[in-house]
Amino acid sequence: MVRTDGDVMRVSDHVRQDRLWGRLMDLAKIGATAKGGVNRQALTPEDGAARRLLADWALARGFSIYQDAIGNLFVRRSGDDDGLPPVTTGSHLDTQPTGGRFDGAYGVMAGLEALEALEDSGIRTRHPVEVVAWTNEEGARFPPSCMGSGVYAGRYSLDWVCAIRDPAGVMVGDALSSIMVGTKEAAPRDFEAPIAAYIEAHIEQGPVLVTAGETIGVVTSVQSQNLFEIEIFGVEAHAGTTPRASRSDAVLAAVEVISTLEQLGLDGADALRFTVGRFIARPGAPNTVPSHVTFTIDLRHPDNAEIGRMSDLIERLPGEIAAKRRCRATVTRLSDSPVTPFSEAIVDLVDRTRKELGLAGRRMPSGAGHDAMYIQPLAPTGMIFVPCVDGISHNEAEDALPADLAAGTRVLADCLAELAGKAR
Ligand code: HGY
Ligand code: MN
Ligand code: MN
Repeated sequence: MVRTDGDVMRVSDHVRQDRLWGRLMDLAKIGATAKGGVNRQALTPEDGAARRLLADWALARGFSIYQDAIGNLFVRRSGDDDGLPPVTTGSHLDTQPTGGRFDGAYGVMAGLEALEALEDSGIRTRHPVEVVAWTNEEGARFPPSCMGSGVYAGRYSLDWVCAIRDPAGVMVGDALSSIMVGTKEAAPRDFEAPIAAYIEAHIEQGPVLVTAGETIGVVTSVQSQNLFEIEIFGVEAHAGTTPRASRSDAVLAAVEVISTLEQLGLDGADALRFTVGRFIARPGAPNTVPSHVTFTIDLRHPDNAEIGRMSDLIERLPGEIAAKRRCRATVTRLSDSPVTPFSEAIVDLVDRTRKELGLAGRRMPSGAGHDAMYIQPLAPTGMIFVPCVDGISHNEAEDALPADLAAGTRVLADCLAELAGKAR
């Protein structure tokens, strides 16, 4: 790594804001929505088109591509000691249904830009350097989130995730097959293949940096997150003739479960995050008492003990409340990720690099979940945040400034180059 003062060149000097922004805008055209956002859900044809575009950009620059059995797509710039584990960056190309142009896409494009900057600089590194597009980070269509990185890291089995269905009944396994053929020339990659270090660039998706007027978030940890799917089973009945006393109304039982849990989770510090993002009632006829409800609870908290307390309530209360209403409930815990502190060495490297580049910033935890939380147990890991406009994300209005995105990419490029080691 060329780390000096004065005018000696750094890899980050070769990061090009125009190339980065242009690619982000090209990517944003895939799944573009009328409101200026992106709907590029995991394993849809749009996701496949984005993966193909990444592969084409990579191959055009002479990089090589790999993909594993869950479709994680790796772009590799070889190192002079190419047998060494890669220094890796990455994020995701899939989006929320009402997603934005930068959540995930920024981290993949920043990684590609860092590889391009390395290539333009002429610097050879000892380790190979890779950027990865993890499959289905959002978990919007197919919960749980961080599915691709979770399978890679051994948190989920491939068989279990391949059997998961979206609301239309499509299985991950079937959708995955139809997508992976789009990058079939990619060489195979094993799950848990060694990684020397991992740094992910991402928009903050919150208000801290933009409020402070700072450019770089040096991410120290990711808060805990548990995802539950609750099913309530009742009995269909006529809306006009069935007395309350003999109803088994799955919706009213679900509403009582949700409102009871929400009340039990209220904390003065406003630290708990309790979200019912998916709620499906069947049969869905206005004049039939609903017999079946499926809903999710996305639970987050910076403290493991507190999320444990709430999780125990979520495991227990639905059954008790459903029984009072002559219904039955099942609770499935789809994901369970404790607070994940990042590697001190990586956090220090990111902090030192941003200071050397003269970029204002701070150390901070992540409220959002990211693939990096599953990679931390495999390799020293960290993240770089840049601000997004008004802290808005998971919203079609998500926006970011080209200069901030380029600044985060410069920090990333220098960190990756230092970790990969200058070839002898
Ligand atoms: O849910 C999350 O925190 C991430 O944005 N998928
Ligand atoms: Mn994301
Ligand atoms: Mn997201």
